[in-house]
Amino acid sequence: MLRRHARTSGARSLPCPPGPPTLPIVGNIMDMGTPSAWQKLAEYKKTYGNLVYFHGFGKSVLVINSLEAMNDLLDKRANKYSDRPMLIFGSELVGLNRTFALCDYGEEWRAQRKLAHAALGPAAVRDYVEAQEDIAAGLANDLLKTPEDFHNLIRVASGRIVITITYGTRPGATENGFVLIAEEVNRIGGEAAIPGAYLCDILPILKYAPSWVPFQRTAAYGRQAVHDMLNKPFDYVKKEMASGTAPPSLVQRLLSDPPENITNLEERIKAAAGTMYGAGAESTFSAVLTFVLAMALNPDKQRLAQAEIDRVVGMDRLPIIEDIPNLPYINAVIKETMRWNPSLPLGVAHRSSEDDVYEGYFIPKSTIVIPNVWAVAFEPNEKYDPHAFLPERFLDDSLPVVDPSTWAFGFGRRICPGRFLAENSLFIFAVTLLSAFDISPPENGEIKVHFKEFFISLLAPFDCCITPRSGAKANLVEMRAAQNAI
Ligand code: HEM
Repeated sequence: MLRRHARTSGARSLPCPPGPPTLPIVGNIMDMGTPSAWQKLAEYKKTYGNLVYFHGFGKSVLVINSLEAMNDLLDKRANKYSDRPMLIFGSELVGLNRTFALCDYGEEWRAQRKLAHAALGPAAVRDYVEAQEDIAAGLANDLLKTPEDFHNLIRVASGRIVITITYGTRPGATENGFVLIAEEVNRIGGEAAIPGAYLCDILPILKYAPSWVPFQRTAAYGRQAVHDMLNKPFDYVKKEMASGTAPPSLVQRLLSDPPENITNLEERIKAAAGTMYGAGAESTFSAVLTFVLAMALNPDKQRLAQAEIDRVVGMDRLPIIEDIPNLPYINAVIKETMRWNPSLPLGVAHRSSEDDVYEGYFIPKSTIVIPNVWAVAFEPNEKYDPHAFLPERFLDDSLPVVDPSTWAFGFGRRICPGRFLAENSLFIFAVTLLSAFDISPPENGEIKVHFKEFFISLLAPFDCCITPRSGAKANLVEMRAAQNAI
């Protein structure tokens, strides 16, 4: 006991990692910078190194700018770095921490995470391949009719992949209703995550304010939305299962064949399933949209990718997920898409649950730890410009480049459980679009690129032309979409 105390107080005498100069109370936390915080944070690397430390308003934040340090802390010391930042409004008052993506590393997280593994692991995702191919074919068919609406169509298709696989829904009013509830919860969660949006996150005592105070009313509305998001689609699956009409889905699988030793099973399935839309829809959407932009801006890469599809898949069918191992250039295009504009350039923050010492620096308990994966993606390279879209960097054995799948999906025990599903989704969307369409800049030749940035780097709507490569390809899409089971 004595020794442990001595070690802790010794650690406390070490300096925290360096960071920009500080002021009283506010510290230096305002220097983290938004929008595009990741670029500014990566620049700090030149002055302060791989670890940059911020504090202020009673919070401490460690930004990590190197893959090695991300792995050392978030993976190798996962037992100390796997909590999530606590937001009083979003987590406690609205109840978003009922879902495991936002709850601390403990019993509840472990139980829900086990459910997610059982339903989203490499073997389980094989059951969802057909639904993903159907949704990609449906998107292509919709693009034949209203190509100018591509931004919205891709958003809907990315959300549909997640909602269909989670609950086995089919297009229609019920599915749209579930999506609307989940989007409303996303909106509330997104607002709650903006630093300083709710005073109770700065002055926690305010969480006890009476129910008529405006933020408490907003919280009550949010709680109801979370309740609906968890319960309504879950009840729908149970009804479908009772009538013998439930297609394979995450909830159907977990209810009919649950992993062993999970107590409070139904409530936990509801919460685990309720996590998926918020965690998976927008990140997939962002990646697919980036892919479309990259193709419009890089016609030479697009032609190479299309030539590979035509050669390997042929001209008389659309590609399927089974084609993945046979399309190395397409796989490189997808990796480059994830690198060139990572959907989550700052990953998802973890929080430390104990004091720690790393590289001679003291990292206090409750530090919010942000992996700036953008700094890894844009690491300067003697051969390939990090700002250019060059899939070839992933096919060049002379200069190995870090594969984005090692950082884009997060770290340690919190690593994205939807990554196998997401990789299949990105592949089937990309390959279906390239097989059937040419993607090019708008007629005036100019694409104006803006980002709606905060934690997620999402492209704002932009103009581009999506035209069928031939009448035969358009027929192929229509015929494939007509066979859709969903
Ligand atoms: C391109 C698409 C996607 C990207 C880039 C992505 C990335 C990430 C990242 C960076 C994290 C945080 C990991 C960490 O804390 O270190 C995460 C967590 C998570 N993702 Fe994904 N994800 C994607 C798609 C999906 C999909 C499709 C699903 C579900 C169907 C999903 C479900 C989750 C869940 C549930 C978590 C929380 C895990 C936890 O806290 O234990 N993700 N994802």
